[in-house]
Amino acid sequence: MRLVLVGAPGSGKGTQADVLEARLKTPKVSTGDMLRAALKAGTKLGLEAKSYMDAGKLVPDSVVIGLVEERLGEPDAKNGFILDGFPRTTAQADALGALLDRLGKPLDRVVELAVPSELIVERIIHRRTDKRTGQIYHLKYSPPPPNAELEHRADDREETVNKRLADYEAMTTALLPYYQKLGLLVRVDGVGKPAEVTARVLGALGLSA
Ligand code: AP5
Repeated sequence: MRLVLVGAPGSGKGTQADVLEARLKTPKVSTGDMLRAALKAGTKLGLEAKSYMDAGKLVPDSVVIGLVEERLGEPDAKNGFILDGFPRTTAQADALGALLDRLGKPLDRVVELAVPSELIVERIIHRRTDKRTGQIYHLKYSPPPPNAELEHRADDREETVNKRLADYEAMTTALLPYYQKLGLLVRVDGVGKPAEVTARVLGALGLSA
């Protein structure tokens, strides 16, 4: 399965990608996670990305396209992948399409997780991640266990979230008609318990829950 998850910041892409990764035995490829890992490792790329990420701005297309091309060339992604947070611009979608055409491995589906913006800010500002396992929690909806080592993302402050949402509207929503025209888009209601959303995503992919 070659899958793209599209949705606003906080719509649940990472949460669903983690579940689908285990269920479909297909690797999650998250550009946000890759950029944060590069930042933690102090690489040149991580340092270049930091100022954009902290300000809630998109990292330049050339940087993320290079990262994804490299990642999709790794052995575990040869038979499928779940892209989380990429593409985010039509230039990124064009680059992904060209890469997959070259490989003769087109996308199977693009799933939009639809969540109204009034729910997004609360989801994001109470998000916490376990820095050892990468598990995503929410202080109210998916509370972490007492032994979790919690991190609060630097870009999860309310003012940065608003900038990220504005960029999503301005740049990423263009992908919806883009993939609709290609007959790849399915829209899934992202409101409800995470397990309910997973069941809807699996249903949209023609798989049983
Ligand atoms: P990235 O890490 O991709 O962030 P994002 O797209 O803004 O998405 P989030 O990680 O904020 O949210 P999510 O949809 O994964 O939701 P989650 O499952 O965590 O990117 C970060 C930055 O990197 C960007 O701003 C940009 O600078 C850069 N970047 C990354 N990719 C790029 C690209 N392609 N091009 C350019 N720049 C790029 O859930 C959120 C919270 O809600 C959690 O607390 C979770 O527990 C909770 N939750 C999840 N599902 C539910 C539910 N059903 N009900 C209630 N709560 C829920």
